[in-house]
Amino acid sequence: MAQTVDGKIAKSINDNSLNWTSLEDKKHFGEVTKQIGTVIMGSKTYEAMGQKALKNRKLIIMTSNPKKYETKEGVEFFTGTPEELVKNLESAGVDHVVLAGGARLNNSFMKDKLVDELLITVEPLIWGNGISIFEGEQIDAKLELIEIAKLNQDTLLLHYSVIK
Ligand SMILES: NC(=O)c1ccc[n+]([C@@H]2O[C@H](COP(=O)([O-])OP(=O)(O)OC[C@H]3O[C@@H](n4cnc5c(N)ncnc54)[C@H](OP(=O)(O)O)[C@@H]3O)[C@@H](O)[C@H]2O)c1
Repeated sequence: MAQTVDGKIAKSINDNSLNWTSLEDKKHFGEVTKQIGTVIMGSKTYEAMGQKALKNRKLIIMTSNPKKYETKEGVEFFTGTPEELVKNLESAGVDHVVLAGGARLNNSFMKDKLVDELLITVEPLIWGNGISIFEGEQIDAKLELIEIAKLNQDTLLLHYSVIK
């Protein structure tokens, strides 16, 4: 996930612009997701990014209404709970997956304790309002810092693990 210094990932729910993230963040997202191979996304994020497949990666969209979307190579739709999806992936031999937002899907997985690590790019911006990385029911997660890296002169990459 990419966020501003004040913790926002989009100016509003319908804001689909990613022109505020650095080239280095986009490159990092591409590298990590290609290495891991499977990406989960909420339907609103999929819509915000123009319902596009991710080249060389399997994209799984969580939605209660899969019929709403065109079938597309490399894109699968899943209706069910985060726990059911993780169990399905485990039985299919998938041991790592990237959860790529948005705010509500992140919250559901975090609430169900299904997130092991966080990779957060912090871009040098402040918006004052907008949506946060996690939106929804209250969660109470504690993290441990694994690593901090500089992606460019002004952009940080924070890598945390979730204490379970
Ligand atoms: N900066 C970043 O790194 C970044 C990354 C990703 C997204 N974003 C931004 O985040 C915004 C979208 O976030 P969002 O919170 O509105 O939507 P979201 O999390 O992408 O999607 C939420 C939708 O997913 C479906 N869903 C299915 N199972 C779910 C479950 N267990 N928990 C939650 N949702 C479930 C529901 O829609 P159905 O009606 O289809 O069931 C729900 O309305 C966009 O503005 C996008 O640009 C930013």
